[in-house]
Amino acid sequence: MWDKVQETVSYIKEKINFDPEYGIILGSGLGGFTEEIAIDYILPYNEIPNFPVSTVQGHNGVLVFGKVGDKKVIAMQGRFHYYEGYSMKEVTFPVRVMKYLGVEKLIVSNASGGVNSNFRVGSIMIIKDHINFMPEHPLRGKNDERFGPRFVNMSQPYSVDLIEKAKNIAQDLNIEIHEGIYLGLQGPTFETLAEYKMVKILGADCVGMSTVPEVIVARHMELETFGVSVITDMGDEESILSISHDEVLEAAKSAEPNVRALIRELIKRN
Ligand code: HPA
Repeated sequence: MWDKVQETVSYIKEKINFDPEYGIILGSGLGGFTEEIAIDYILPYNEIPNFPVSTVQGHNGVLVFGKVGDKKVIAMQGRFHYYEGYSMKEVTFPVRVMKYLGVEKLIVSNASGGVNSNFRVGSIMIIKDHINFMPEHPLRGKNDERFGPRFVNMSQPYSVDLIEKAKNIAQDLNIEIHEGIYLGLQGPTFETLAEYKMVKILGADCVGMSTVPEVIVARHMELETFGVSVITDMGDEESILSISHDEVLEAAKSAEPNVRALIRELIKRN
């Protein structure tokens, strides 16, 4: 794994001489954030050695290099999901690569189903913690100490400092935001009503099929992380009748301008 990561990093560094401070993973329907980036270079995943190739509609599959304000960023437009058939090591491979390209802070976004009754479709939730209910752990197996320790402290997986800054920015920009707990399930089915109820009983505010593995691997390597979830559907008796991937993408698109502004300002002002 170490050699593979270094090989990929070397390949990318040969193509573009760039030392990004921020890594960004853009979730379903949020790929438009790249319009906030003064783009220097775009690399399609299928040209990058050792990178998996994204298979989901709404996920483009390119690595975008550029600037937000005066900060250098690298954004993944399209991520890899466990449900696509990748192992968790493959899902999180790009996060390892970002680290060795120089990234110090990772910003992740996703679309999720809400179970907190204060939420509506289109609500934006800053992730303050997560529950890992995924069936495979990205750190399972022999630990390579060059990446990080065997046992990772997960007491503050999401940076308290970045959360505080994002809340202030939201207030400045008059963007309504919530804070809550994200629970990760493998998918690809949307939850049954009983499963939504379980998610709520377990103490989460929303549920989705991504983010948790990437954040675990980021913390393994001591990246500072920030996560934001767009509530694209609600897990109640009525809403779940109509849920579809198209509905998720549409709802994510409607929240996109605010999520974009939030992430842009967080990077610019930080
Ligand atoms: N469940 C899981 N993932 C999701 C959902 C959901 O309800 N909505 C958007 N992504």
